[in-house]
Amino acid sequence: MTTGRRDRPAHVLILGGTAQARQLAEELADDPSLTVTSSLAGRVAEPLLPAGQVRTGGFGGADGLADWLRGHRVAALVDATHPFAAAISANAAAAAAATAVPLLALRRPGWTAGPGDRWHPVDSLEAAAELLPSLGADRRVFLSTGRGGLAAFAGLPQQFLLRSVDPPGPPLPTAVEVLLDRGPFTLGGERELLREHRIDILVTRDSGGAATAPKLTAAREAGIPVVVVRRPAPPPGVPVVADTAAARVWLRGR
Ligand SMILES: NC(=O)c1ccc[n+]([C@@H]2O[C@H](COP(=O)([O-])OP(=O)(O)OC[C@H]3O[C@@H](n4cnc5c(N)ncnc54)[C@H](OP(=O)(O)O)[C@@H]3O)[C@@H](O)[C@H]2O)c1
Repeated sequence: MTTGRRDRPAHVLILGGTAQARQLAEELADDPSLTVTSSLAGRVAEPLLPAGQVRTGGFGGADGLADWLRGHRVAALVDATHPFAAAISANAAAAAAATAVPLLALRRPGWTAGPGDRWHPVDSLEAAAELLPSLGADRRVFLSTGRGGLAAFAGLPQQFLLRSVDPPGPPLPTAVEVLLDRGPFTLGGERELLREHRIDILVTRDSGGAATAPKLTAAREAGIPVVVVRRPAPPPGVPVVADTAAARVWLRGR
């Protein structure tokens, strides 16, 4: 990349909080033509820190992000946030449009059902909660959706196992056991988890990626139905790549 001045590295801002964002920051860290800043929302108590510079906390909406891009002379913006982090992605699109800073979305592909999978795709956590009674009111549900949006499951009669990195806040399902853990998870571990907790329904978002995919294989093997929340649509007009190699190609082309 160039900034118009040969002696100054181009500043790349990565909106992060994902393994892919950390991977991209790591891969760009030794490039002397770039200065890389990763941005974290600051939600996780002990985040895994990416290589290079890191800033933490919200920008104050799309206008705040646009101000930050201008103030820090950002030459390119990579939105490598989680596929379900729709607000920051919308802000990135608006801020990029307002500042004419090139924007790329880095999104790992979603999961696809294979033979033997018993998936029930839905559009939201609320729709997942509405579907659960039809799958059995007395069932034990593994809620693997993170700690956001759990209000959708409050008041449901099922027994829930909830896994998240940090403790979730209220409102929670009435009967809930919380398991604090952070991926990657193994197939053996997920098989054991389903067996030990006698899980008979899995609820997940279509996050994609290998780190949390073993639960899907374990559910398939056990014949367990999986309620899969589809991803929100990415902001229109933003180019999307699936991996960091393609993101680096895009950056070289700026
Ligand atoms: N959603 C998930 O399931 C999930 C899973 C794993 C990791 N994460 C990561 O956790 C972060 C928050 O996710 P979310 O779903 O709460 O996001 P969100 O709903 O899209 O964003 C809410 C607000 O949080 C701030 N924010 C989000 N990501 C930021 C970032 N990378 N840097 C600075 N500010 C950020 C922004 O505040 P301002 O408007 O004040 O700028 C944004 O408007 C994201 O960075 C995402 O990559 C999310």
